[in-house]
Amino acid sequence: MPLGVCYYPEHWPAERWAIDARMMRERGLEWVRIGEFAWSLLEPRPGVYSTDWLDQALTTLHSAGLKVVLGTPTATPPAWLTAREPSLLRVDSSGRRLSHGGRRHACTTNPRYRKLSRTITTMLAERYGDHPGVAAWQIDNELGNHGSARCYCPTCRHAWQQWLCSTFGSLAALNQAWGTTFWSQTYSDWEQIPLPSDPVGGGHNPALLLAYRRWASLQQVEFCRQQVEIIHAHAPQRPVLTNIAPGDDEIDWFDLAASVDVIAWDNYPHGFPSWSAVSLFHDHIRGLKRQPFWVMEQQPGPINWTPTNPPVPPGQVRLWTYQDAAHGADNVLFFRWRACRIAQEQYHSGLLNHAAQPTRGAAEAAQVAQEWQAHGAPQAAPRHVALLIDYADLWAQQLDPHAQGWSYWKLVQSIYGSLARHGIGVDVIRRGSDLSGYSLVVAVAPMLSNPSEASQWRDWVAAGGTLVATPRTFTKDQHNCWSDQPLPAGLTDLFGAEVAEWTALAPSEPWQAAWDAAHPFDVPLWAEVLQPTLANPIVRYTSGYATGSPAVTACTYGKGMSVLIGAYPAPELLAGLWPRLLPNAVALPPGIEHITLDDGHLWLNHSDNHTTVAVPGSWRDRLSGHHYTQEVALEPRAIVWLHQTQDGV
Ligand code: GAL
Repeated sequence: MPLGVCYYPEHWPAERWAIDARMMRERGLEWVRIGEFAWSLLEPRPGVYSTDWLDQALTTLHSAGLKVVLGTPTATPPAWLTAREPSLLRVDSSGRRLSHGGRRHACTTNPRYRKLSRTITTMLAERYGDHPGVAAWQIDNELGNHGSARCYCPTCRHAWQQWLCSTFGSLAALNQAWGTTFWSQTYSDWEQIPLPSDPVGGGHNPALLLAYRRWASLQQVEFCRQQVEIIHAHAPQRPVLTNIAPGDDEIDWFDLAASVDVIAWDNYPHGFPSWSAVSLFHDHIRGLKRQPFWVMEQQPGPINWTPTNPPVPPGQVRLWTYQDAAHGADNVLFFRWRACRIAQEQYHSGLLNHAAQPTRGAAEAAQVAQEWQAHGAPQAAPRHVALLIDYADLWAQQLDPHAQGWSYWKLVQSIYGSLARHGIGVDVIRRGSDLSGYSLVVAVAPMLSNPSEASQWRDWVAAGGTLVATPRTFTKDQHNCWSDQPLPAGLTDLFGAEVAEWTALAPSEPWQAAWDAAHPFDVPLWAEVLQPTLANPIVRYTSGYATGSPAVTACTYGKGMSVLIGAYPAPELLAGLWPRLLPNAVALPPGIEHITLDDGHLWLNHSDNHTTVAVPGSWRDRLSGHHYTQEVALEPRAIVWLHQTQDGV
């Protein structure tokens, strides 16, 4: 599996480019991404293009044997443009128009900005579409980053109202769907419909807020798609990608991924709370198109934008790169080649330091390149467990978390993290996806109900699947209005239980529940008291007025089983659940990741501890050549890649 690096030739003298290219190749790097912020160099004056520098950079990199990913520069429109046309600048939620000097400052919904973006993209595609060195394209850079997916400018107001008109067809339909009889909100003209940034007393209607989030996401997808079309027309053989920044959840990444050939993401593990949160994001990205992905930017050492910017110990970059591959990355590019002397990111490390000396990150990248040259990269086996997620559920819960501290992503993370700590490989896929091939599926807070999905779940469980659903399942409709049925709406037969009552729980006042009365654990945030009709209670509340009431139920349905989790799934609840549902679930030592491969096992030690894990059988480590029969000792940041051998061979 190839490795590469992100490079900014425009930051360094041209005499340096050939030296850098040679040094990249010496470290086994094959890809180099360039160009994604270079608009003001490519078009220094309106309509006047300057591409000699890029021609020369491409020739230099290509003749050194590197394959180039060329970026379109639409994340950074030039100062002459924003000065001439300030109405293209984005307006934030407090009504302030951005100014020049950073990035992602343009409104990507604006038809004029879209036209200018298509023009610069067309220029690049015409000029480099069949360049032998340009092997892939990247659209823009981190669409939606810096809160940029949601703009509140006058152009957006008009576009949003027009979109509502074409989506709902009539004001009567919109008024009905949004429940605008509440507080006399009924609209009689599309132009009366506010933007969420407009100040109101008592907050906006949650149906309007969710619709705006859907609309804003679609704008980004359309902006990307328009550029993809241009590249496809001029470079039909080259994959077109775009790179996702985790944490930016203003865009439905499933929709964005559908607009490109291959999806990529930017992996800075220090921006995550845990190693399993990084693995989750890998699996989320793999699930977007249900195909391998690229890591377009991999953290190469310390970075500059977290609160503490901690050190990166020896072995860590190599470990992260193995984690990338084992979760489905096809190509991994490090960000960046050389630490930058100028402007905003001077404290960010690179594979070279500011003085052009190779860093530890460079040595580890070179080591991985050599190892994968010799053995290929580790490939995970297909997973049989899936998490179902959805961006509309996420947005609706962000808009009205109801319980202090409720976070959809934290819930996804805690369920994924618990499965990972039990050695269970997981796909993270969109609600409504085909479920064949899975034996267990967890629907994570699927709040917005969907009757056709309810039928899909019934059929899938009846045929033998195990469906687990969490609190807040099927409580509202797709417009974010509450259901008029017992909860979970339209699913009480499948779960053999109803939600008798539900409540938020203050952080200082959790309830308790237990698998067996001797071992109660806290239930934070949320509790649903379940009323079984056919299901069996498997966890009960042990505190307060709900003592003895079911907190989790399980129900046989056809050949399968449905499990309804009413209590917020605390670690103890989940740790009790997996071994009951998954025969191969085994609690692993803290920090240890186990990935089942097509032809063996990968063990990664993400912790600072020396740990031992049991490996019954006869195994050889591809990397060290060591032979193991009982157990493997894993030192901090160890990578052990086992394949089965005949005893002692
Ligand atoms: C990414 C971005 C890069 C660079 C990097 C620094 O989010 O795409 O351009 O800013 O962060 O870590």
